[in-house]
Amino acid sequence: MEIRIIGTGSALPARRVTNEDLSHIMDTSDEWIKSRTGIRARHLAVEETTTGLATEAAKKALHQADVQPEELDVIIAATVTADKFLPNLSCEVQSALGAKNAVAFDLNAACSGFLFALDVARRYLEDGTHKKALVIGAETLSKIMDWQDRSTCVLFGDGAGAAVLSACEETGEKRGILSTVQGSDGSRGEVLRCDNRPVSNPYTAKYENTLSYVSMNGQEVYKFAVKTVPEVIKEAVAAAGLTVEEIDHFLLHQANYRIIESVAKRLHQPMEKFPTNLEECGNISAASVPILLDNENNHGMIKKGEKIVLAGFGAGLTWGAAVLVW
Ligand code: COA
Repeated sequence: MEIRIIGTGSALPARRVTNEDLSHIMDTSDEWIKSRTGIRARHLAVEETTTGLATEAAKKALHQADVQPEELDVIIAATVTADKFLPNLSCEVQSALGAKNAVAFDLNAACSGFLFALDVARRYLEDGTHKKALVIGAETLSKIMDWQDRSTCVLFGDGAGAAVLSACEETGEKRGILSTVQGSDGSRGEVLRCDNRPVSNPYTAKYENTLSYVSMNGQEVYKFAVKTVPEVIKEAVAAAGLTVEEIDHFLLHQANYRIIESVAKRLHQPMEKFPTNLEECGNISAASVPILLDNENNHGMIKKGEKIVLAGFGAGLTWGAAVLVW
């Protein structure tokens, strides 16, 4: 069985916020943000919700795939910013789409989430019992940012991306997902974190609601990314029976242009193979890779038969890569 991506979609909030806009509400500048990250703007949810963005991206992906919602067997949403604790984002999207035959659940692997969800969906489809899956990455990160912490909040944005996967009979062409690799290291989790509510009830010493926001040791995350991403890409490419030279496009998690440049250098590959959209989107965690994939797909940048690497990294720490033939 070949597991192919047969449709993609994405959605961004209407409100575009430039670095210059941010410089009016905090002590920062376009020069500082752009020179250190490559980010010029990001889209922030004002009226939109994670569910709304995820549903919009999913509808576009289904339309492109020419798949009806009832045909979906599996929906997996990767997110750290679902609108509710309960029900999960996937069930909210299932309901909004009318995908009544799908099993739906969420997955949290932070910025690597889409890669982890893609792998789980692939395994559902591989044995032939499930035929069609919808994999979503969706975030409204702006609600978990500390807007007083200029070193972190300027990096992130909101949005959603989605892909429809189909189990197809093998054609001998060798298309679809060839390999997936993931890794985790919980012992380094402190460098990028956002706490949940503490245990608090009438029997604990304190009984209060406290909100926590994202905190990050940027330099440690940077070091982790530039070391780990080339390694996981090499591993996934080798598992696919290919060499990095044979890969046409590397679609990396959009955290920082300098990280992407460093990965390209370590892989000895030209930057032309590494498309970016972080200039306009910032870092959208689990949504970043599927939004970039959709951008490239819809602009005709990926052609049938081309070899693509998708790679993510982030909190956990977690990392993952997939190799596919379009
Ligand atoms: N505007 C202006 N100045 C800022 C600023 C901002 N938004 N944020 C921080 N600064 C200041 C700091 O206070 C510091 O000032 P000081 O030297 O007077 O103390 C100075 O800029 C340098 O900060 P530093 O943290 O050393 O910068 P850096 O070169 O390491 O870049 C990051 C910071 C966050 C851009 C960089 O570490 C990075 O991109 N890390 C990876 C983060 C990431 O990708 N996370 C997501 C992974 S999923």
